[in-house]
Amino acid sequence: MTESKVARSSLRDPSLAPEGHLKLDWAGRHMPVLNEIRAEFEAGRPLAGRRLAMCLHLEAKTAYLATVFLAGGAEVVVCGSNPLSTQDDVCAALAERGVTVHAWHNATPEEYREHLNRVLDTRPDLILDDGADLVTALHTQRRDQLGEIIGGSEETTTGVLRLKAMADEGALAFPMFAVNDAYMKHLFDNRYGTGQSAWDGIMRTTNLTVAGKTAVVAGYGWCGKGLAMRARGLGARVVVTEVDPIAANEALMEGFEVMPMVRAAARADFIVTATGCEGVVRAEHYEVMKDGCVLANAGHFDVELSRPDLERAAGRPRRVRKNVDEYRFPDGRRVYLLAEGRLVNLAAGDGHPAEIMDLAFAVQALAQQHLVERAWKLPRTVLPVPREIDLRVAELRLRALGVSIDRLTPEQEAYLRSWRPE
Ligand code: ADE
Repeated sequence: MTESKVARSSLRDPSLAPEGHLKLDWAGRHMPVLNEIRAEFEAGRPLAGRRLAMCLHLEAKTAYLATVFLAGGAEVVVCGSNPLSTQDDVCAALAERGVTVHAWHNATPEEYREHLNRVLDTRPDLILDDGADLVTALHTQRRDQLGEIIGGSEETTTGVLRLKAMADEGALAFPMFAVNDAYMKHLFDNRYGTGQSAWDGIMRTTNLTVAGKTAVVAGYGWCGKGLAMRARGLGARVVVTEVDPIAANEALMEGFEVMPMVRAAARADFIVTATGCEGVVRAEHYEVMKDGCVLANAGHFDVELSRPDLERAAGRPRRVRKNVDEYRFPDGRRVYLLAEGRLVNLAAGDGHPAEIMDLAFAVQALAQQHLVERAWKLPRTVLPVPREIDLRVAELRLRALGVSIDRLTPEQEAYLRSWRPE
């Protein structure tokens, strides 16, 4: 069976599988919550007879999640959600474990689209997306398949925004769980995951110090909060830029400086974007940057640091290190763009730590099970993940850590339910 999955897959190099198996085993050993769910899936096979299409960053933790769905009885077919985050050894190992894989590192835009289409050619009934690419392709080019889809789940902030825009227009044809919005996802993954993994990507790629330098963080959502907090921990002076006055106040109360990008860019040694919006750093900002400024993006799409503006001002870049492009302006200043402005933690690193992805992917696994159990009964819109799932993941995590907490006494429960004055 596994041999035919390898044959059916589109892989860069199947001989890389041994290295990939080691990575999957390492990730799996550090995902205790998902392992509990895996054991339940093996026993109950809740996804038997279902075909799940996944479009995710194909690194070890994601691959491990795909094997959990296999354990639950699903047929699983995957493609990457970003050409630079796909790891070829992981893909080769995953195909050997019984998942059909259509992805390779550094796929061209045409190859990327082809992989997505090959996944959808299998006519899935469940979708797991990271950035809403599968859902968008289904609603734009493959409308004949829409009626076959029970529903899906979306991993990331940007994807949820896209889905909500579709739902607002009444265009979403099946229910989609906003996994990103679950507490056990965004409070941990977006904050501690992005905070650690983006700086890890930046530091391993540049081999430069952060301490004593000025780090500008664009966007003070959950990802920006994590980036700013970790930059401070690394010894940087942190400046936050925002468009939302409430978030700007939050950043001020945390003790960060807040100012417009045009002033922040002139001071920056590092600029890291995490806004979900395009053109956050653009021509007027490149004009004022200091020589040596390092530019990295931690948002889903490569649109936050404008590359067209950079190339208009500085011409074609020179690759000076793996994942580092040097742009030289006519006045001699140089700036360094990491990972072509794509997600720096995944394109120039291994993504979030395994213990963090454990939580997000536990939510994913339970959301997919919920979809199957409620098949065809859920409304065709963007749905919050049920609170029981959040609580279940939180409890499993505490149990895995050996941490116990208090319970309300019956008197306390009655007190919290009462409202009449004594
Ligand atoms: N690993 C797998 N998916 C990821 C994501 N969306 N962000 C960071 N690391 C990941």
